[in-house]
Amino acid sequence: MEGRAAPPQPERTRKLAEIIDGKAFAANLRAQIAAEVATLPYQPGLAVVLVGEDPASKVYVANKAKQTVEVGMASFEHKLPADTAQAELLALVRKLNDDPKVHGILVQLPLPKHLNADEVVAAISPEKDVDGLTVVNAGRLAAGLPGLVPCTPLGCILLLEDRIEDMTGLHAVVIGRSNLVGKPIAQLLLQKNCTVTMAHSKTKDLPGLCRSADILVAAVGRPEMVKGDWIKPGAVVIDVGINRVPSGVEGKTKLVGDVEFGWADKVAGMITPVPGGVGPMTIACLLRNTLTAAKRLENL
Ligand code: GUN
Repeated sequence: MEGRAAPPQPERTRKLAEIIDGKAFAANLRAQIAAEVATLPYQPGLAVVLVGEDPASKVYVANKAKQTVEVGMASFEHKLPADTAQAELLALVRKLNDDPKVHGILVQLPLPKHLNADEVVAAISPEKDVDGLTVVNAGRLAAGLPGLVPCTPLGCILLLEDRIEDMTGLHAVVIGRSNLVGKPIAQLLLQKNCTVTMAHSKTKDLPGLCRSADILVAAVGRPEMVKGDWIKPGAVVIDVGINRVPSGVEGKTKLVGDVEFGWADKVAGMITPVPGGVGPMTIACLLRNTLTAAKRLENL
């Protein structure tokens, strides 16, 4: 083929979305937290309570403990047997509420079926509720008052703030209305002056609604439910889903989000990957909340 011009290349019509690297952002956030912890005259402490033997919960709790120690905080792990009585668990939470070395308390969910999680969460002192799950902290968030904000929504908003200087007037669509993720994310987007629409399983014409979103947050827990052609070209997509599915290789699984990434990344302007997007932000924000709680409790 020497001497001949190269054949014309097909014009690239669609540019790939910018990937929002939550893993790197979380590492940076943890480094900032560690630097601040090192300056404090006291050591922030996080207590994590795990009831039972759920394998996924054991992995989460081990990761939390490891990262807590890495930023210089004290980690108090309480592992209770699966048949622990409600009264016993409540007594532990109250003991942690009264312990001055403990600034944050997290009771890993889900709890075994015989336990009443609402009652356990309600027993956590709102000042130590680093999951932001108590009614007091949910109310503070809804009222725009300082409190403790659930970790995954906080992680999402930090990623968005980093990429979008001013969210004023942008249409944000949040799919999913859970107390842990959907509702608090909607509140945070509202605080950023977005026009927020909450979508859920009963929403009519979900694809059409999503196509009107400048910011699309998917928090439904259904693998690749949000299709590429539901996304407005150039939109910012935050995928909160962490779904384990068969990988195609026998006996192996892989993680996918709530968004069909392989198509969405050819339409969106920016997108969080799974894994490596929102996921790593959750523990980093738990540590941030523990630092916030410690500073408020110690009045510093
Ligand atoms: N289980 C899965 N995610 C979470 C979380 O963010 N907080 C608690 N307490 N339990 C969980």
